[in-house]
This record gives sequence, C-alpha cells and structure tokens, in this order.
Amino acid sequence: MNYGLIGEHLSHSFSKEIHEMCADYTYELCELSPETVADFMQNPTFTAINVTIPYKQTVMPYLCEIHDHARRIGAVNTVVNRAGKLYGYNTDFYGLSALTRRVCGTLQGKKVLILGSGGTSHTARAVADTQRAASVLTVVRNPKGEGQISYADAETTHSDAEVIINCTPCGMYPYAGGAPHIKGTPIDVTKFPRLAGVVDAVYNPLRTNLVQDALDCGIPAEGGLYMLVAQAVMACRIFLGRVEEAFSDETAMDREADGIFKKILSDKENIVLTGMPGSGKSTVGKALSELLNRPFIDTDAVIVERAGKPITEIFAELGEAGFRDLETQAVKDTANAYTGAVIATGGGAILRDENIRALRRTGRIYFINRPLEHLIPTADRPIASTVDAIRRRYEERYDRYLATCDVEINTDEVVEHTVNTVREDFFS
Ligand code: S3P
Repeated sequence: MNYGLIGEHLSHSFSKEIHEMCADYTYELCELSPETVADFMQNPTFTAINVTIPYKQTVMPYLCEIHDHARRIGAVNTVVNRAGKLYGYNTDFYGLSALTRRVCGTLQGKKVLILGSGGTSHTARAVADTQRAASVLTVVRNPKGEGQISYADAETTHSDAEVIINCTPCGMYPYAGGAPHIKGTPIDVTKFPRLAGVVDAVYNPLRTNLVQDALDCGIPAEGGLYMLVAQAVMACRIFLGRVEEAFSDETAMDREADGIFKKILSDKENIVLTGMPGSGKSTVGKALSELLNRPFIDTDAVIVERAGKPITEIFAELGEAGFRDLETQAVKDTANAYTGAVIATGGGAILRDENIRALRRTGRIYFINRPLEHLIPTADRPIASTVDAIRRRYEERYDRYLATCDVEINTDEVVEHTVNTVREDFFS
C-alpha cells in the first residue's frame, strides 16, 4: 500500500472517495487487528497513511517526530514515511478549525462548551485554546477534572455560552443516546440565548438532531462531514510533500475543502419530495432518479409492500391513525437506509415532526407545489378521492408543507421543468 487508511473497522469510511477527489493516487482502506499494528509500523511499506480509531495513540511510539498539534492533542491521524523514518501529524486539528471557522468565524474571545471527553474533545480543546477562546468548558455526564461541568450546569450556570462543539457520539447513526430529558440530542440549544454557532463532529447522519435544532432556532450549525473533508485535504498535501503550504495557506485549503465538501455532500444527500396527493411527486421522482442515476424510493410503495395490501384497505382496516404509524416507520427506515437517493413521500408524511426530522437528517426537502386546480381526485387515494376533500387538505396543510421544506418548487404541467428546477437547486 502506498497511500491509505489504517483502523480496525473501515467499511463505512468516506476517506477513499474524498482522497481520490483530492489527488490522483489510489487510496486503500486497510483494516488491521490490534496484534498486527506494531509490525505494520515497524516495517513500513507505505508512503503515507491516515490513522483512525482505535490506533491514533498506538502509532505514536513508532514515530521519529511528532508535529506540535498532534503532540498537544496526544493523537496522530497522519503518518508520512520519509526514507524509512516516520513523521506524525494531526490533521483533525485543521479539520475542526476549518469547520468552526465555517460555522462561526473565530473562537477568539468566545465562551465555548465542548461536549464529551474522548479523543475529538481533546482536538476541540486544542482548537479553542489556539484560537484564544475566552473560556472553554468540557461538558460530561459525571464531571471530575478541572474545567469539567455537568449538562445541568451547562444549561443553567453556563447558559451564556456562545459556541457548542459536540464531540460525543450522541446523534450518530443509529441514533442511540441523548440527554435524559431530550431524546437523541446531547443538549437543549434553546437554553443558550447567546449561542452563535453549533458544531457537531458527527457526520453520519449528515444533519444530526442537534444541528437541526440549532438551524431551527436560526443559529448557524454544521455537521462533521466538512471536518472530515478538510482534514483529508490537509492530509493529502502532507502526503504529497507540500507540508509548508499545508500549514501556511489556510485560504487555499479552505477553498479546496469547500469544493470537495459540496461534491461529496450532493453525492450523499437524498432528494426528498413532499407535496399534495396528485402533485406529481412520483412522476418527478422517477424522472429525477433516471436522470441522475440514483435509486428511487416511494414511501407509499414501501408501506403497501410491507402491509401486503393497498392503501385503501389499510385505511379501511386501521383508520388514518393506523396508516400514519405505518407511514412513520416506512419514512424513518427509508431515510436511514439510503444516501444519494430520490425519495417521494406520501402527501401526509409532513404531518409528523418525527418524519421531517428523519428526512432532514439525510436529505434536502423539496415541496412540489402544484396548483389546487390541477390536483385531480382519484378513487385509490382515501383522503383525496373528491375535489372537496383535496381542497380541504390543501388548505389545512399548505403552511405545513412550506414550513417543513428546504425549497418550494412551483410546478407547471411540464415534468421536465420541475425536474430541472430541482436538479439545478440541488447541485447549485
Ligand atoms: C395521503 C397521500 C397518499 C398516501 C395516503 C395518504 C395523504 O400519498 O400516503 O393515501 O394523507 O395525503 P400520495 O400523496 O402519493 O397520493
């Protein structure tokens, strides 16, 4: 292996894709068991590697020189082999600096709360200290050391915090954990009136509940994908011997990270279509999926397949409430299972907050707004089988469609126009 990544479990890593966008080398994913790491490092056959959990400390004794940031953090994620001697760096430091810069500019003079005390938390502290944050507190479940506080203290005594950096796995797929009083979210952002930025190191899903909460309050927020991309851009320069440049030309690095982030985000993000029955979500969705060569999933079709009967029968047997429960399960499973797909939802999928949360975690929501007079009733749609029923639901739901979408697409009768409008927005 010339270039690549070592770690214990790498099947979900995005690093190959990202590195191969940065440079034209081949980047290999190399899973090592704990017993084989020593030999791998003692007899290095690689040119340069990244290192991920659980080996960021394990590799340190084999290095002849360790860069400042890495020494300070106590972890190395980039190792370069120069004539048989190994040099270690920590580009996560740069990745997290770039992410905080993107979300809220500098941390200088700001009060920062770092959630969690694991490896990423040490990186966050080094970033905050280097940028001369006014104060930095680590929030943990059971505070012990100096500078550590509890979640309860954070939300009361330290509610004047201006930046929150989540370094816990809370919110990470499959969404275990969370503060006891708020499911799936490590902290309640509404308790911090001065909050100017929320940074979440978690990148799967793309938009955690914490990020969504912050955005809903109008607070700038971003997940860890940008950090992942930025650390790879930096590592790539170091791999290729452009170390000086990597550490001096922040603007060029950020620009490159921005471009790759945009590309990888659009590769991974789902395109989600919402709108009234008969608005053309399935037709538009299928056309988009063909044009973009992405999988197409219709959540109504998932419900029908699972139930083994048509929607009219499900409504007749379980009522609308029973149908909505099946719909929530289908929406959540689809949103969780797919990346880079086109998802058409049933007209009522927007009614429950939990459905919208799940869809936004992995996707961008387009409200296909077709004028009421063009929505035609059909017998197989229990809530849209007459003109009157359609009008009533349209009036009831219109504000909800608007409030839950990222983009409203006013559609005419030409499917191609609608498809192109969605495509242009998604890749812009
Ligand atoms: C519904 C819309 C339908 C289907 C169900 C309920 C609704 O999907 O989910 O009949 O409440 O609007 P379409 O919007 O695809 O018709």
